[in-house]
Amino acid sequence: MTPADDPGDRPDGDQHENLDISPMFVRPGGVTEIPKFSLPDKQTLPDTAYQVVHDEAMLDGNARLNLATFVSTWMDDHARRIYLESADKNMIDKDEYPATAAIEERCWRILADLWHAPDPKSAVGTSTIGSSEACMLGGLALKRAWQHRRRAAGQSTERPNVVMSSAVQVCWEKFCNYFEVEARYVPISEDHPVLDGHRLAEYVDENTIGVIAILGVTYTGMYEPVTQISAALDDIERDTGLDVAIHVDGASGAMVAPFAQPDLVWDFTLPRVHSINTSGHKYGLVYPGVGWVVWRDKAALPDDLVFTVSYLGGDMPTFALNFSRPGAQVLMQYYLFLRLGREGFTAVQRASLDVAQYLADGIAELPAFELFNHPTDIPVFAWKLRAGYTDNWDLYHLSDMLRESGWLVPAYPMPDDLTDVTVQRIVVRNGLSMDLAGVLLGHIRDAVDHLDQLTGPIPDSRRGESFHH
Ligand SMILES: Cc1ncc(COP(=O)(O)O)c(C=O)c1O
Repeated sequence: MTPADDPGDRPDGDQHENLDISPMFVRPGGVTEIPKFSLPDKQTLPDTAYQVVHDEAMLDGNARLNLATFVSTWMDDHARRIYLESADKNMIDKDEYPATAAIEERCWRILADLWHAPDPKSAVGTSTIGSSEACMLGGLALKRAWQHRRRAAGQSTERPNVVMSSAVQVCWEKFCNYFEVEARYVPISEDHPVLDGHRLAEYVDENTIGVIAILGVTYTGMYEPVTQISAALDDIERDTGLDVAIHVDGASGAMVAPFAQPDLVWDFTLPRVHSINTSGHKYGLVYPGVGWVVWRDKAALPDDLVFTVSYLGGDMPTFALNFSRPGAQVLMQYYLFLRLGREGFTAVQRASLDVAQYLADGIAELPAFELFNHPTDIPVFAWKLRAGYTDNWDLYHLSDMLRESGWLVPAYPMPDDLTDVTVQRIVVRNGLSMDLAGVLLGHIRDAVDHLDQLTGPIPDSRRGESFHH
């Protein structure tokens, strides 16, 4: 993106062409103005340049109070040390950094084992930059496998489609757009708030490359019941002969369910689950920049998608959209696997679920609200304004008021067929303590008291435009 030509189009506070630098931060006689939108002609002292970047970045929100994001905002000092020590490592340079490459492999093998791959030794996996890239790779493998089957049978590969809930994260829309696959959305409804296999047969046909099941729907945090989806596909196979695979988008849930709901069946235990992705930087607890995708066995990842890079003088298979990307996040993920183990991950995820439950109970007690869902799956829940409660304010106004005290708690409409339902959502992450949650509840109660004193409706706000999943 280039800055807008008309300064009036620039984001708030970015109306000036030049940055003013306080005389405090420059040598006597030094420049006190630097252009914002063109490369300065001259050098700037490192201390001055640092101060400018540092001060500008300070205007960002407080990550600790950002309850909109699923992505980690806190790691301990040991992880930070690893980050600094390995900030210069490029994940693709497997030959130069063979130890990092070996640790990457250890990590996805750990995940294959955690997700019950039938034989973790013959599973295949990779790190990615996040779940979006991981989902693209999962989708591409489904598409290529479908093409191979169709070509072998002498059938057309013209019109692939993928079936998923209308509440999928935007990365699946991107996948369909970028890789020319028809998106078949099964609309959610009051009775079927997640994809659950209901009426699946109306969407699946011979051109279906796979079905996406989401473990931790972005809008609400709810799990889609993978066993039910799998059973519906069994029925479809019995009736039509179509054998359709599942990719589980476990961006959040694949790092929660194994610890918080160990008895839930959702993973490679189900033979239809061919691949699973997760975000290391969400409930994998690592700073932004790492995702994972694992295939149940080599047969699930067509060979012709795999490239080779040189590694220890030999060749190493890779499957990725990016070439260069940071290696540090992979090392931090391994640090957390060692540091926490099953016991630690269970304790951390349960603690977040306890905080989410406490917040949900507190919000449900307020007469203004009704929970859309309880945080029984991942530590995320959404609520609605109780029907008929007020015409004077809505959840967007509450969101704006909470922002005044620093909290980011987005309000947004649900997707098809529930677009007339507006919800507000809290994502509880490691770092939102019970104490902070108590403060937040107090701020929510105060904001509602304040809004309830209005004697007429607030003029219309920015409904629905403020939040992107
Ligand atoms: C279900 C789901 N899939 C995919 C993604 C994309 O993940 P990432 O931000 O790691 O690319 C998200 C992000 O919130 C998500 O919730």
